[in-house]
Amino acid sequence: MPVSKKIQASIEKSSWIRKMFEEGIARKAKFGAENVFDFSLGNPNLEPPPKFREVLMRLSKDPKPGQHGYMPNAGHVQTRKAVADYLSKLHHLSFGPDDIVMTVGAGGALNVVLKTVLNPAEEVIIPRPYFVEYNFYLDNHQGVPKTVPTKPDFSLDFDAIEKAIHANTRAVLINSPNNPTGKVYTGQDLDTLGDLLKTFSRKLGQPIYLIADEPYRKIVYDGVSVPSVFASYPETFLVTSFSKDLSLPGERIGYAAVNPNMSDKKTVMNGMILCNRVLGYVNAPSIMQRAVADLLEETVDVSLYQRKRDMLCAGLEDCGYEFSKPEGAFYLFPKTPIEDDVAFVTALQEENILAVPGSGFFGPGHMRIAYCVDDRTIEKAMPGFLRVIRRAKEY
Ligand SMILES: Cc1ncc(COP(=O)(O)O)c(C=O)c1O
Repeated sequence: MPVSKKIQASIEKSSWIRKMFEEGIARKAKFGAENVFDFSLGNPNLEPPPKFREVLMRLSKDPKPGQHGYMPNAGHVQTRKAVADYLSKLHHLSFGPDDIVMTVGAGGALNVVLKTVLNPAEEVIIPRPYFVEYNFYLDNHQGVPKTVPTKPDFSLDFDAIEKAIHANTRAVLINSPNNPTGKVYTGQDLDTLGDLLKTFSRKLGQPIYLIADEPYRKIVYDGVSVPSVFASYPETFLVTSFSKDLSLPGERIGYAAVNPNMSDKKTVMNGMILCNRVLGYVNAPSIMQRAVADLLEETVDVSLYQRKRDMLCAGLEDCGYEFSKPEGAFYLFPKTPIEDDVAFVTALQEENILAVPGSGFFGPGHMRIAYCVDDRTIEKAMPGFLRVIRRAKEY
């Protein structure tokens, strides 16, 4: 076998999203792209804000000597300073450039944090359903996912988290606004989680870290805001990117920040800087670092995603689908009308509708619909959604 057994096994069981992506390509070739309703990928369909191009033009007209060279592995100091100032204002805490590592997207940031803190076989508690790449990231660093259920509205289940904690627990990984559910955790929930982790960290004699994955922080609806995790717990890492809120997923730019009040912060930061280097990233893309330093207050027009969410929710509700209305991100996670989510998603494919089975996110009996698509895709898919639920209910 040309690849390792482990990678072969991962390819075979890997992502439903990728399978759907491939199904989409085949169907688009057969039926024409306009007749396939592809809700499978979280690839933002909005273009980056106009200011992004202005900043890129300015940077290309005014090149700094050495701007394409190596730099400190944590990233350009000016960018980290800009990020630190931005976070200080947002979280009412005093961040400095040394609390930030610029990374290759949120995925890069997660790998850097996990590699920094995990010893072999240590566990990371993850509320399910969740972004399935987490399992691969944990495996990269010999960590073990310990998944726990959430409540029916996808909020945190503290009894389940408490039961999952034991001597081998290294971290809890949360994602709000959530992929795939669109849930935003409340400040009260974060405080309760913080108190729980303080209690158990004391008992274990070392901190259980909280890792907050927040690439969708700015994509929230109906006036909802995302509370600060830093306010609730000192031993916190924030990982994020500009992939979703500036529509730059292909540019691979993000960062990891540590709570300024984290214990042993300097050692942790030294670890993260080393990990950024030895994971092969060395540093995050240079021009993108310079660009995002001027774009920290920018966001795509979130009202466009809100309109898509509203169209999709109204349409699916009329068809008879059941779901919790998302408060953020651009995913809806309805129940499938039959228990077998894979069978239901396969039935949707017959109508050229591509969604991802909830099982792919450890949320069986559901499906994920990524609505970062044209409004017309949502509109034109609705008759198919209706036909399939009708057929399912006839059985
Ligand atoms: C919850 C979550 N975390 C992390 C990522 C990775 O983001 P990035 O593309 O910035 O690496 C994604 C991407 O879809 C995501 O949904």
